[in-house]
Amino acid sequence: MEFVQQLKASVDIVRVIGEYVRLRKASGNRLQGLCPFHNEKTPSFSVYVDIQAYKCFGCGATGDVIKFVEQIENLSFYEALKSLAEQFSIPMPKRAEYSDPESKLRGSLYDMNELALQLFRAGYRSQAAAQAREYVARRGLTPELVEQFGLGFSDPTGQALTRKLRAEGFSAEQIEASGLARKREDGGFYDYFRGRLIFPIHSESGKVVAFAGRTLRDEEPKYLNSPQTKIYHKSDVLYNLNRARNSIRKVEHSILVEGYMDVIGVFSAGVEQVVASCGTALTSSQVRSLKRHSDRIVVNFDPDRAGAAAAERSIQMFLDEGMHVRVLELEGGLDPDEYVKENGADVYRRKVETASNFFHWLADRARKKFDVSSAEGRMQGFQLLLPAIQRIPDKLERLAVVNDVAAYLRVDPGAVLDQFRKAAAERKPVAVRKQTISAVPKAEKILIQKMLRDSEACAAALPQVAELPNLGRLAAGRIFEAIVTAASQGEAIEFSRIEGRLDDTTKALLHDIAFADDIDGSGESVQDALNCLKTLEDSDLEAQRAEMRARVREAERSGNLQEALRWTKELQKMSASTR
Ligand code: CTP
Ligand code: MN
Repeated sequence: MEFVQQLKASVDIVRVIGEYVRLRKASGNRLQGLCPFHNEKTPSFSVYVDIQAYKCFGCGATGDVIKFVEQIENLSFYEALKSLAEQFSIPMPKRAEYSDPESKLRGSLYDMNELALQLFRAGYRSQAAAQAREYVARRGLTPELVEQFGLGFSDPTGQALTRKLRAEGFSAEQIEASGLARKREDGGFYDYFRGRLIFPIHSESGKVVAFAGRTLRDEEPKYLNSPQTKIYHKSDVLYNLNRARNSIRKVEHSILVEGYMDVIGVFSAGVEQVVASCGTALTSSQVRSLKRHSDRIVVNFDPDRAGAAAAERSIQMFLDEGMHVRVLELEGGLDPDEYVKENGADVYRRKVETASNFFHWLADRARKKFDVSSAEGRMQGFQLLLPAIQRIPDKLERLAVVNDVAAYLRVDPGAVLDQFRKAAAERKPVAVRKQTISAVPKAEKILIQKMLRDSEACAAALPQVAELPNLGRLAAGRIFEAIVTAASQGEAIEFSRIEGRLDDTTKALLHDIAFADDIDGSGESVQDALNCLKTLEDSDLEAQRAEMRARVREAERSGNLQEALRWTKELQKMSASTR
């Protein structure tokens, strides 16, 4: 394969990896950074300039530039090759040997998304899009921004895209797999997005993988998102990360906002390190793709209750991943987009710079809630912060925060440490950090063993496992996530491959489970195990609900009706969404 050699010779591995990982020079021909493939605090990931290869001494990930792109972007070998060739404008020979059916299908999905983008953008200039342009103008977007973000408009009659894809020779299977059209009873297709303002969604490397469409009428849903496809894994993608990542590394923090419009508004103020999740709750996979660029984050959600709840949930995720969180609350009940419009870019930028550390922000809330003029009130205030502090995975960091917060709230550090030790003794490990085999329920163990040993059982279980909404919270969640990601990259589910994707502790757990011979699952079918898993997830949800009920009670007791109401609403929302 001489093309492969040629490509590797003309592509600089440092430049490619440097776009995903902060690298620092370690010696003459070695650079070093935090490994993007497992969670670590001290860099064990090296890139070697002279041999153009990388290796992580923590998780064992290793390879050349093509392998890196495969791993980090979830691509097959052929796709990684193609992606690099495109990026560096190296003409690529068309050869059958590069294409297996899976890569071919995925390739066609990228092509169809590209065509759809062109059509939507052309549609934006059409007569039918007058209302969309009006809306965009009303929201204060310049034509340059429309261009830069690739905004478009989808045909209201729901035919243009389907027709175009047909005319370009895509098959019914391909069109169905793209998620861009829906099948009618009679077998025909109609466009998924109709009469909506279109926001293209890119992968980190800048390929269009999905779209979001905002309605221009009073219609549900307000935002419609592409369904999950072979190239679009909702839980992995962050809106605007492709444009934001260089800034994130430069200014050494990212900003998380709630909506597409917020991203564009903030970005247009010259604050380019901004991203949003695409209408789903933040996942640990998204958190980690931010952390690769910087471990500092500013959370800037809408000032409404839904925003506060979403902020709270995502902050917990960031803390679990050991990130440093600051909170940006904008006055006047404005969301980031409106705030920038109203107050200008400079004011917003200063707000970002001075956003307070999450724990101080919490402490300020505690101050308002308790009478901090008394020692007892201050202590109660501190208790409010304890659960969050306990989520900090690193022990030293945790103690540092305890000290800092104690000083901030002016509570006696001795008493605080005492409290803290007591709480630490009772400290239940956070779900994702349970790492000993005894903490893993039997259903998880059986399922993992079966998936690793029996490829048919694995294929049968995979779609259902991938669908579980709280996968990452399972005791062996990291292992399941690795399996699902591997499968989505078309990789065979083999012990050694899954192992290569895990951090050290999880790896040890995988060994324990895979080699355990006392897990008797012979009498159980894959479906039994799956049913069990669902029960586990349900009980996890039940635990979350119980926690919320406790908060309602607590709020009621302290006479904070608003807070109680807020949690009640959350609780109702949760019950509704899990039906
Ligand atoms: N969202 C979604 N699906 C919905 C509603 C919202 O995916 N049905 C997501 C979108 O990413 C949206 C974000 O949640 O941008 C915030 O929702 P919301 O606050 O309702 O929208 P705004 O950002 O205020 O949208 P707009 O400014 O266009 O009214
Ligand atoms: Mn909003």
